[in-house]
Amino acid sequence: MIQWVSESKMNINGVNLVLLENAKDLAYAAGKILRDKLYSDFSIEYKGEIDLVTDADMASERLLTKAITTAYPRHALLTEEGGKLGNPDSEYLWVIDPLDGTTNFAHRLPYFSVSIALLENGRPIIGVVYNPIADEMFAAELGRGAWLNDSQIKVSQTADLKSSLLCTGFPYNMHQPNNNIENYAKLVVQTQGVLRLGSAALDLCYVACGRLDGFWEMHLNPWDIAAGALIVQEAGGTVSGISRKEFDLTTGEILASNGLIHQALAEQLKG
Ligand code: IPD
Ligand code: CA
Ligand code: CA
Repeated sequence: MIQWVSESKMNINGVNLVLLENAKDLAYAAGKILRDKLYSDFSIEYKGEIDLVTDADMASERLLTKAITTAYPRHALLTEEGGKLGNPDSEYLWVIDPLDGTTNFAHRLPYFSVSIALLENGRPIIGVVYNPIADEMFAAELGRGAWLNDSQIKVSQTADLKSSLLCTGFPYNMHQPNNNIENYAKLVVQTQGVLRLGSAALDLCYVACGRLDGFWEMHLNPWDIAAGALIVQEAGGTVSGISRKEFDLTTGEILASNGLIHQALAEQLKG
């Protein structure tokens, strides 16, 4: 049962922690929809040549949108399938990917997630990413740390590229020149490997908990990375752009690492 914090209490010290619990409850509920669909039946439609959407994406998004707009009618939302909703003047924006890793889901490959971030004046203050198959809840609150289920998480201590395990992703439109193949080819021969796991939100959480040492991708959307970027930062990692130093959610590019290999990685990548 979600114990919603009323809007009038949102700025009182400590209330963000309750908001974090709300966001986790939402992700558990949406994750259950995805899990149930995966083990029963779902339908697939094509948004582009290889860009899929399933009825699981839609059902998860419907639940999240309805719950948030009912509890916080004056907030704004940005969701992958629905776009911008709610009050455009609100200082609070919920950024949601109802199913990150749809291609994996469509192949019944159990690596996908629900990603929810809450931004205050454009800055993420809460992020949760839930893998409903592994039952792993990654969560962070600005200034308070990051967790995997009940344990606090930290990035890895790997200090050089040759001992690093990295991860990346590729755009749905591989016909564009800046499709990341060159970056991949360069780094795969300098490291212990460059994986392509298929859920940017979860990939970032794997950096946060030290399973991976770094992740980068271009051509992403805010809902792919808003929660995961905060989780990496709160786990002690570094997040930046690729063609520019500063991380900006709206540019679609992200380089996240344990911090120790960040400079070496940034020098190899072309944005
Ligand atoms: C995709 C995943 C994938 C990344 C793509 C994203 P979706 O999101 O995060 O890992 O490589 O760029 O679009 O479409 O499954 O929500
Ligand atoms: Ca996504
Ligand atoms: Ca999605």
